[in-house]
Amino acid sequence: MSEPLVLGIESSCDETGVGIVRGTELLAHAVASSVEEHVRFGGVVPEVASRAHLEAMVPTLEQAYAQAGLDVSDVDAIAVTCGPGLSGALLVGVAAAKALAVAHDKPLYGLNHLAAHVAVDQLEHGRFDRRVAALLVSGGHTEILLVDDIASDITMLGTTIDDAAGEAFDKVARLLGLPYPGGPHIDRVAREGDGTAIAFPRGLTAAKDAERYRYDFSFSGLKSAVSRHVQHEQRMGRQIDAADVAASFQDAVVDVLTRKTVQACRDHDVDTLVVGGGVAANGRLREMVLARAEAAGIEVRIPRPGLCTDNGAMVAALGAEVVARGVAPSSLDLPVDSSLPV
Ligand code: KG4
Ligand code: ZN
Repeated sequence: MSEPLVLGIESSCDETGVGIVRGTELLAHAVASSVEEHVRFGGVVPEVASRAHLEAMVPTLEQAYAQAGLDVSDVDAIAVTCGPGLSGALLVGVAAAKALAVAHDKPLYGLNHLAAHVAVDQLEHGRFDRRVAALLVSGGHTEILLVDDIASDITMLGTTIDDAAGEAFDKVARLLGLPYPGGPHIDRVAREGDGTAIAFPRGLTAAKDAERYRYDFSFSGLKSAVSRHVQHEQRMGRQIDAADVAASFQDAVVDVLTRKTVQACRDHDVDTLVVGGGVAANGRLREMVLARAEAAGIEVRIPRPGLCTDNGAMVAALGAEVVARGVAPSSLDLPVDSSLPV
């Protein structure tokens, strides 16, 4: 059989994404983001995101058809994110996918958002030919995954026990008076600072946590430490050195992310690491993951930024793998699951 032609729809958070792929070839990649509408709230408002998905869904589908020069009637299957994510947001994508599946008599595949974040790398760097590990870091998730088969065999090795990595960036940016989403601003401001200036805590790295939380993360203590530092400086009447605070915070996050991920690769005999999610754009993370992975003989694969953040191409990419393996489609009463496990 030739490579499956799949339409993918993503709506789990604030991006309405539609992608079309044939196997590992990217044919269309259209994304509408509602991030601007959330700026004044300092974070994603589920109700606002859902309404924005409703408004953006049809135009984004049409944009994708135009890019690929084809129509939904041409595809072999329709894939959609059914979790994890915001329920109301997921419902919009799933409802759209069901409508298209019924109207055009196409099989429907409800897929996992985290698996899709990993699968998208195949559009850029080719099919995985062995077990890989993945570090997913965004505003909504922080996971280390072990991927034996992208379509059917993924194990979550670790996750955050409180805030997601991107969420920590956003909260600390706010403390420093930087706009939402704060990650890119911290990244920029930190370039002028000294990452060793302030010794911020590295969550869940103490010996007592080594067993239970070997691959897990915690960023809320770090955020509180930054907050205490800022308040202390203000009380002392001192000017806050935002660059040093940003750089020291960023180093603390990146140190733990990279240390635990490389440890997971070593423990599981993995020599290929995929990094995805919005925080994968972070310059310091890229630098440190490359250095530490290289030192451990691990090849790092990071898709281009537009494929790291939420998009429909990643869902289509996973859909193509699932279809190629002859997996049975989902039923038309496919539910959404805001905390769907991998
Ligand atoms: O994947 P994404 O676009 O959306 C989801 O959260 O699913 O990720 C957005 C997150 C935000 O928290 C944002 O602050 C963070 O990724 N981010 C960054 C950078 N660019 C985006 N964090 C650190 N450094 C960056 N350069
Ligand atoms: Zn995501």
